[in-house]
Amino acid sequence: MNVLEALRKRKSVRSFLDKEVEKEKIKTILDNAKRAPSAANTQPWMVCVVSGDKKKKIEARVIEAFERGKKTTMDYQYYPLQWDEPYKSRRKETGLLMYRTLGIGREDKEKQIEQWKANYRAFDAPVVLYFFIDSTLEKGSYLDYGMFLHSITLAATELGLGNCPQAALAEFPCIVKEELDIGRDKVLLCGIALGYEDTSAPINSYRTERVSLEEFVSFYE
Ligand SMILES: Cc1cc2nc3c(=O)[nH]c(=O)nc-3n(C[C@H](O)[C@H](O)[C@H](O)COP(=O)(O)O)c2cc1C
Repeated sequence: MNVLEALRKRKSVRSFLDKEVEKEKIKTILDNAKRAPSAANTQPWMVCVVSGDKKKKIEARVIEAFERGKKTTMDYQYYPLQWDEPYKSRRKETGLLMYRTLGIGREDKEKQIEQWKANYRAFDAPVVLYFFIDSTLEKGSYLDYGMFLHSITLAATELGLGNCPQAALAEFPCIVKEELDIGRDKVLLCGIALGYEDTSAPINSYRTERVSLEEFVSFYE
């Protein structure tokens, strides 16, 4: 698979086979993704690879906190506080596309919440990668981090592994950090669910759209 093919093939996968991911594959992904560029080669990434009992423990605690109504407090502001166009519509359409695919009605809040909760189990992927950054670093390093994260999704795609980047996995940073023994000086950015895609699952059957080049590119000569 070449890079262009991987870019086209990658998609967010939200249902996985009950099949272990080989540690060697995870290492290969990270060992190649670490070639991502970063300003002054700062390499601001720090990754925890979590599976098995530890994964189960974290998700049980997170789901318990969510069900108890504990307010989520990410270490940083990921989403805008107020959604303006065109992002508001795109966000809404993306959610509706998923719920339509799953046959969940617009008014069926209970099923929507159940589906949302699947986020906290990383959609039952066997592996979660948690990503941290030093709190002393600035916005520039977040650009670097994005390069690293996408490199991971592409490398995983090449190796036949489904994946889904998830901000939801960073909604209860205190629990995650406590379980992984990570200091408060680190910012939990997000997670990536990793595993073999269940290609028969309806939730994996749709593709999201992208706007055309004309809508976001200008050429100057
Ligand atoms: C940093 C980041 C965080 C995301 N967080 C979530 C999430 O919490 N839950 C989820 O289901 N999808 C999440 N996504 C996936 C996006 O919804 C998805 O990338 C987008 O809808 C485009 O679809 P595609 O990835 O299939 O091309 C996230 C993506 C990124 C890049």
